[in-house]
Amino acid sequence: MLRKITLSIAILAGMASLADAQVYIDRFGNACNENEADVPEYTLPDPLAKKCGRKITTVKAWEKKRPSVLGIFEDEMYGHAPGRPEGLHFELACPDELIYDGKVLRRSVRICIDDNPEHSFVALIHLPADASAEHPVPMFEGINLFEDALTPGSPHSYRWPVEYICGEGFGLATVFHSSIEKDVDFTKVAGGVRDWYGPEYDWGAIAAWAWGLSRVLDYLETCPEIDATRVAVIGHSRGGKTALWAGATDSRFAMVCSNCSGCCGAAISRRVFGENFKSISQVFPYWFTPNFYKYADNENAFPADQHWLAALIAPRPLYIGSAIEDLWADPRGEWLTAVNAGPVYELYGKQGVSGREPELDVPDAEGTVAYRVRTGIHSLLTSDWYDYMDFAKKHLK
Ligand code: GCU
Repeated sequence: MLRKITLSIAILAGMASLADAQVYIDRFGNACNENEADVPEYTLPDPLAKKCGRKITTVKAWEKKRPSVLGIFEDEMYGHAPGRPEGLHFELACPDELIYDGKVLRRSVRICIDDNPEHSFVALIHLPADASAEHPVPMFEGINLFEDALTPGSPHSYRWPVEYICGEGFGLATVFHSSIEKDVDFTKVAGGVRDWYGPEYDWGAIAAWAWGLSRVLDYLETCPEIDATRVAVIGHSRGGKTALWAGATDSRFAMVCSNCSGCCGAAISRRVFGENFKSISQVFPYWFTPNFYKYADNENAFPADQHWLAALIAPRPLYIGSAIEDLWADPRGEWLTAVNAGPVYELYGKQGVSGREPELDVPDAEGTVAYRVRTGIHSLLTSDWYDYMDFAKKHLK
């Protein structure tokens, strides 16, 4: 691997000024800058700017503009997804079971898109065993990138600490992303939702996964023991990009947590730091609408930046989490998204992040937008959940 990592000792200052030249060469030979000093000068487009040059100052004016902002990301990045399918229905995939000494109820639900049994995927629901119609529980929901991650004892189970989440009074709904849409080019491997719908839609896999999360939420809305008005959508890495897009497209998600989501997730694209448009559109072309490829090497031509995506989540609570060694996902760029989404939250009378330079391992979470950069590498750790849980308890309980 050609990645040359230099860990900054003065880590926080390091977010602003990593001195050593760092470049990562991806497998297509694209050089990706990981040196803060080499971030190009750029001007961030203002989500509150009107065409006439004046500034949006009211919620009403922002909400008038909002569909066109969503449209930019649909047209130019993630693609357009269908709505709720008419034939949508749900079946128990197997009988409910109690696990973790009877403290957690586990349910497998088949989300059926129509009457073709192959057009379906399974969501795994974990609930505190005492969840009831009298005491419906709030939930976390997200795509799961490892099929075995919800199996107790599996090497990936630390990502979804079910016992802890349910012990805090929350439920957890997950779906293996590849059961909605394969995480490979669907022109080479068929059998996912984009194949079922055919070429009429230009959606990439991220949009397909986000669409799947909305269908799981459709199911949660049918459960009296679940409070579907208090569902936080969460995800790591490509799952974090998906969580942001799900939160932007489906305002039923009451909160969004993006963990190490990086390029085309929470990171400001114009910084061209870590993964960039050229690299992501060559290595993962099937994540996006084909229209996106024209921005390779041309981040400045994109009519928005990722703080506009974050702004689409306003006024709902948003937590952006980074890891200091995860330069590929551009922790500083993720923080700048949190900062620059703030003015849209302020229109609603909500507070964004404080604007203080991030302090390692210290959440900036007093506002409705939160940011935290933690020690360590690209991962979703149980300790990350502690911060997301604190935030969820504050905003969803
Ligand atoms: C790759 C990809 C990232 C993505 C990550 C992941 O590193 O370049 O964009 O976030 O995989 O999903 O793990």
